Amino acid sequence: MKILAGNWKMNTTFEEGYNLIEALKNELSPERLGDVVVVLAPPVVQLTQAIDLLIDYPEMAVAAQNGHAKDSGAYTGEVSMAQLADAGADAVLIGHSERRQYFGETDQDVNAKVHAALNHELRPIVCVGEVLAERQSGDHLAIVEKQLRAAVAGVTPDLAENLVLAYEPVWAIGTGETATAAQAQEMHAHLRGVLRDLYGDLAQYLPILYGGSCKPSNGAELFAQPDVNGGLIGGASLVAADFIALVDQLQKA
Ligand code: 13P
Repeated sequence: MKILAGNWKMNTTFEEGYNLIEALKNELSPERLGDVVVVLAPPVVQLTQAIDLLIDYPEMAVAAQNGHAKDSGAYTGEVSMAQLADAGADAVLIGHSERRQYFGETDQDVNAKVHAALNHELRPIVCVGEVLAERQSGDHLAIVEKQLRAAVAGVTPDLAENLVLAYEPVWAIGTGETATAAQAQEMHAHLRGVLRDLYGDLAQYLPILYGGSCKPSNGAELFAQPDVNGGLIGGASLVAADFIALVDQLQKA
């Protein structure tokens, strides 16, 4: 499965979100999408707007950007995985580096959220990635492997078939600096090997997305790598023409 996911982060008004989705709906026919599944992750206040607008577009799914592992309770300001599923979301981003960096999410939190999402039939899009100093240390493969193993600890093979992984080198997010296609492929192949170790042959079917300044000028080269099954797009997902260009590149890859 190929996936192009747009993470809108804390951007867009209600009207901008509406216009963006309408623009995508107008352009992205099932024929044009081919085997690409589009996932949109708007801000949580616009989740139901996106779900309603895409009700007749099963090839475009809606994800939340975060969710709480507990089903309900006194957690002011939080939204649970159970509530996201109840609202009609299909998927949820978990462990984005901005959640880890600014909101103190640990590998243990990420693991609890992955279990909660799977329990509520939300597809978890699990984000992993190293910071610049970690890459410069040369230990980036081992560091990201550790994040992945912690994130999916206790996830049994029958549930693992719903996992989506996103490799986002933190030094490439929002910086304009992209991992080279070779750097992305090296990490993706390593993560595929970890998934094979955990889940055997299933690993070849689990999508591993690349994220970090992915845009039309570099998408085709990244998507051409054998272990890059799509993208998790930030800035370029806010511009309909750029996001559509990336869909076309992924479709052709
Ligand atoms: P940018 O594409 O803006 O670098 O963001 C990537 C990202 O963090 C997607 O989740």
